[in-house]
Amino acid sequence: MGRFYITTPIYYTNDAPHVGSAYSTVNADALARWHRLIGDETKFLTGTDEHGQKVADAAAKNDHSPADWVEQTSERFREAWRTLNISNDDFIRTTEQRHHESVQKFLSTIYENGYIYKDLYQGLYCVSCEDYYTTETAIDGKCPIHGRALIEMEEENWFFKLSAFEDRLLEYYDQHPGFVTPETKRNEALSFIKGGLRDISITRTSITWGVRVPWDDAHVFYVWYDALINYLTAIGYGRDDDEVQRWWPYSNHLIGKEIIRFHCVWWPAMCMAAGLEPPAHVHVHGWLLIGGQKLSKTMAAEGGVKLTDIAPVSLTNEFGVDPVRYYLLRETSLGNDGEFSLEGVTHRYNTDLANNLGNLVARVTTIVATKCDGVAPTPREDSALRGPAELAIVDSATAWNGFAPQSALESTWGLIGATNAYLEQHAPWKMEPGADLNAVMGDALEAIRLVAILTTPAMPKVCEEIWRRIGLTGSPCDEVFSSSSTWGQYRSDATIQKGEPLFPRMKSDQ
Ligand code: MSP
Repeated sequence: MGRFYITTPIYYTNDAPHVGSAYSTVNADALARWHRLIGDETKFLTGTDEHGQKVADAAAKNDHSPADWVEQTSERFREAWRTLNISNDDFIRTTEQRHHESVQKFLSTIYENGYIYKDLYQGLYCVSCEDYYTTETAIDGKCPIHGRALIEMEEENWFFKLSAFEDRLLEYYDQHPGFVTPETKRNEALSFIKGGLRDISITRTSITWGVRVPWDDAHVFYVWYDALINYLTAIGYGRDDDEVQRWWPYSNHLIGKEIIRFHCVWWPAMCMAAGLEPPAHVHVHGWLLIGGQKLSKTMAAEGGVKLTDIAPVSLTNEFGVDPVRYYLLRETSLGNDGEFSLEGVTHRYNTDLANNLGNLVARVTTIVATKCDGVAPTPREDSALRGPAELAIVDSATAWNGFAPQSALESTWGLIGATNAYLEQHAPWKMEPGADLNAVMGDALEAIRLVAILTTPAMPKVCEEIWRRIGLTGSPCDEVFSSSSTWGQYRSDATIQKGEPLFPRMKSDQ
């Protein structure tokens, strides 16, 4: 048993969540659930990033004060996460008092340590990214990500001496080969550092919507500078040192690939400047794409997808909560980009869920109900399913531990496939009641029990229902994984419950 602290990026409150934001959150949730399942003491943090120009502009455009606007929008994220059955232990909002205090403490420490100085800032700024560009990194004066015109800025700002950390960062990467995963993203971060680091402007006088700079009243901190610190605020930075010591060495940030530089270059350097170790691990995922482009409101419209159809809540109304979670975890490896489409969701639903998992549970529970008087037979020690089950347990545990939900589920579905094939081979629907039939059904029930345990981080409600149907009490996540995940633990004599199809087939033309 260990400890596991996992965070999502905090989401901008300029607009409502879309399925791209759900992607980061559902993956982090499944990883948190996995770690709880294996007995790790787990903390899972998500929240909203409420300061900065982009949010202030959205509030003004909607005729709201920034404070009212972020209150409403932040609630839409919480609502979406409740709907998706997200099990976060904390939800941080950067407008909270606790966050302002931690930011001020953290940045005052960096200031006192001599890494912050005042200078004139001149440059190009993209409000959508809340990031700076140079004439070399801009494309025709426009943002390379959003394509919108960059704003020329000139202000007297406080700067962070990022350049002082080049060597220390390289040394840190060298000594911590697993700091950033996957390897391709680690290399990307390393090449940023090797390309040379420039000091960065970390305060603003042009806006007031932000955290006040404690040593200079005319400034607020630049939004990224306050946002990153949320990961420490939530574990008591500046308020409870023991709590920080307890969680920080076990920190894992799950982030999208466009925010590598902030998390893998700036953030570890900021931690060093404040006298803290960098976070333990950053895992970088790719994007959900529509028509090859990053899924966002604009792209959705251009790709002919109705925005309301891809809102997380609409998707769950259409497909159910657990199928949407399953799709987000299973479709794309957590590190690569993946194409999102409603046809894709329908296809996964019909093949993996209705045809494979749903059909397996329905077949087995129906046969046991009708031919074994509804009482579960005992699995065999030397069952032909034991090998595939043990393989699935080892492979999927390794994958979950390695931030690879897709591959964890693929291994688990290997066991589902093997069990369906085992049933085809023995055709228990043609067998007479008796010892041979009991043996086959006991084996199949044991395989289903193991599938429910391995799948519970992805589809907690469905797995609880499967657990109930195979006559077990509580839920798969109440079990102690190390002992429940071995072949032969199924409680024979349990009473099997038949039920409605777990995944009624969807028409595939939607
Ligand atoms: N507020 C910053 C993060 C600060 S963390 C200290 C931010 N917010 S965001 O709302 O723009 O994005 C938050 C996360 O959502 C990012 O990890 C981003 O990659 C993810 N996604 C947004 N759209 C996405 C897709 N289309 N696909 C996958 N993830 C996407 O950046």
